[in-house]
Amino acid sequence: MEAKEATKSFGGLVAVNKVDMHINEGEVVGLIGPNGAGKTTFFNLITGIYETTSGEINFLGQPIKKSKPYEIAKLGIGRTFQNIRLFKSMTALENVMVGQYCRTHANLLGAILRTKAVRREQQQMKDKAIELLKFVGLEDKKDEIATSLPYGDQRKVEVARALATEPRLLLLDEPAAGMNSREKVEMQQLIKRIQEKGYTVLLIEHDMKLVMGICDRILVLDYGNKIAEGLPAEIQKSKEVIEAYLGKGGAA
Ligand SMILES: Nc1ncnc2c1ncn2[C@@H]1O[C@H](COP(=O)(O)OP(=O)(O)O)[C@@H](O)[C@H]1O
Ligand SMILES: [Mg+2]
Repeated sequence: MEAKEATKSFGGLVAVNKVDMHINEGEVVGLIGPNGAGKTTFFNLITGIYETTSGEINFLGQPIKKSKPYEIAKLGIGRTFQNIRLFKSMTALENVMVGQYCRTHANLLGAILRTKAVRREQQQMKDKAIELLKFVGLEDKKDEIATSLPYGDQRKVEVARALATEPRLLLLDEPAAGMNSREKVEMQQLIKRIQEKGYTVLLIEHDMKLVMGICDRILVLDYGNKIAEGLPAEIQKSKEVIEAYLGKGGAA
């Protein structure tokens, strides 16, 4: 993924301002910055929810500007949402299976006739969804209504659903928000295991311990501008970053 001067304005407000970014395969990159910095808007640009006002974003060498969200999912970008978006009245398993639909081959007629091929594919989908729930540690909760699960588990279902799209790039928007410290450690371990499986991850997260502990590189946004980029140790020491978080004068 590569962004070149990616910009998104809402009326007079420039939420993302000429941001350059690239992510290499297999990396876990952190995207941090104070509230309102433009992090989620940047995700929305990458996933086609918003179109860039100017600049461009390329994925696997292809511009994604005019692509619809489902086309981008098919291209290989999966995501979770800052505000959890699970389907109500569906089980954890069903929610994960929804993620697989952009990879299925069955056409409508086949689905209506429930041909052998369709039945086989559905069984494979189910098996794979169970495997993903196992991977995030929720196998024993697969038949529970997803939205009635504890908050931390709902976030894990979202991660499993995003993985079900078989993403080449996985975007996680504050996956540990609202979690207690034990759950945060689990989430950190889960992201580590996701990387070890060969996935590429762009992670928005406020918990500095988690971000610093897991990211290969970190980018910092403030008021839509990229103010720093580097290794975790460099970011921790950066004067600009400390000022962005604490305000000028707070860096002393
Ligand atoms: N759909 C929208 N319409 C108008 N302003 C928006 C919209 N989405 C985000 N913004 C504004 O863009 C800025 C960046 O927001 P956001 O990307 O959600 O920040 P972050 O995720 O870093 O907290 C904020 O000032 C926010 O109010
Ligand atoms: Mg956000």
